Amino acid sequence: MQSTLRKKLLDAFTEHEGEFLSGQYLADLMGCSRTAVWKHIEDLRHEGFELEAVRRKGYRIIQKPDHVSANEIRLGLKTAIIGQQIHYKESVDSTQKVAHRLSMENVKEGTVVIADEQIGGKGRMDRPWHSPKSTGIWMSVILRPNIPLPMAPQLTLLTAVAVVQAIVENTGLEPHIKWPNDILLHGKKVTGILTELQAEADRIHSVIIGIGINVNQTKADFPEELQSIATSLSVEKREAINRASLIQEIFLKLEKLYLIYLEKGFKPIKLLWESYAISIGKNITARTLTGNITGKALGITDDGVLQIEDEKGVIHHIYSADIELE
Ligand code: BTN
Repeated sequence: MQSTLRKKLLDAFTEHEGEFLSGQYLADLMGCSRTAVWKHIEDLRHEGFELEAVRRKGYRIIQKPDHVSANEIRLGLKTAIIGQQIHYKESVDSTQKVAHRLSMENVKEGTVVIADEQIGGKGRMDRPWHSPKSTGIWMSVILRPNIPLPMAPQLTLLTAVAVVQAIVENTGLEPHIKWPNDILLHGKKVTGILTELQAEADRIHSVIIGIGINVNQTKADFPEELQSIATSLSVEKREAINRASLIQEIFLKLEKLYLIYLEKGFKPIKLLWESYAISIGKNITARTLTGNITGKALGITDDGVLQIEDEKGVIHHIYSADIELE
């Protein structure tokens, strides 16, 4: 967790982006001495921040490093809920596990767990999620919406929309969503989302949304079995992507959509989701635990359930499956 003084310092640089802030101004704001301010500035330098110091003007941040710890994310963060508390781990089993533990301790809504590397990253359907060091975004967001249990999958779809919007905004790439929550670029998976619940009877205690994004891996960084089905943003964009800036954009989009959702319900989100989905209107095969269903994907219901019309005109409701586009 980040100290309050450090938070105040980075918030000040965020509010006055690109401007010089004097040592005295920062000392007054932080309620500490100018020497203490200087020590914080030195700490930032050691962590990889590039700072300019000019006599009689003060300090300004020129560049932040491609780290994903609380400092880099705090600088420039424009949200009020998501990411206000960040628990950063250099290496962790799974951010989902840490988030589950924190959620039991009643941390604030919007708390995020981020890791630079996961040793035991979890995917959907108990699959492993490859999460190598310093190349991706591996994080879990804790939400506590006051909604009935069956509506929880809507938040997965909402998150997929937020991540797509953030990628578009940040990189100019144009990803699509494959039901329920895979994000693809040129047909290869770039992001996976795993939503888990802590609930009792019919009350949600918390929703833990795990987001895994392949950001700066090269093609060779992927294990051989993934190379034909997975890609990274930098492979597609052909340049390195700043992870902290992308995380900030995701927090912003997620918060905006979440507030719309709490006020207006799922309808506006559903329309957005459908506008990014590749499978709608196409012929697909859904591989479910009880067999395969082939037909035309009609859309999703308000509960996030996929509807497929087979060649006999029968409409199937798909709750959980892997999807193949014909
Ligand atoms: C999928 O199978 O598509 C979902 C992948 C979800 C991966 C993310 S990475 C951050 C969070 N922690 C985990 O262990 N899994 C999720």
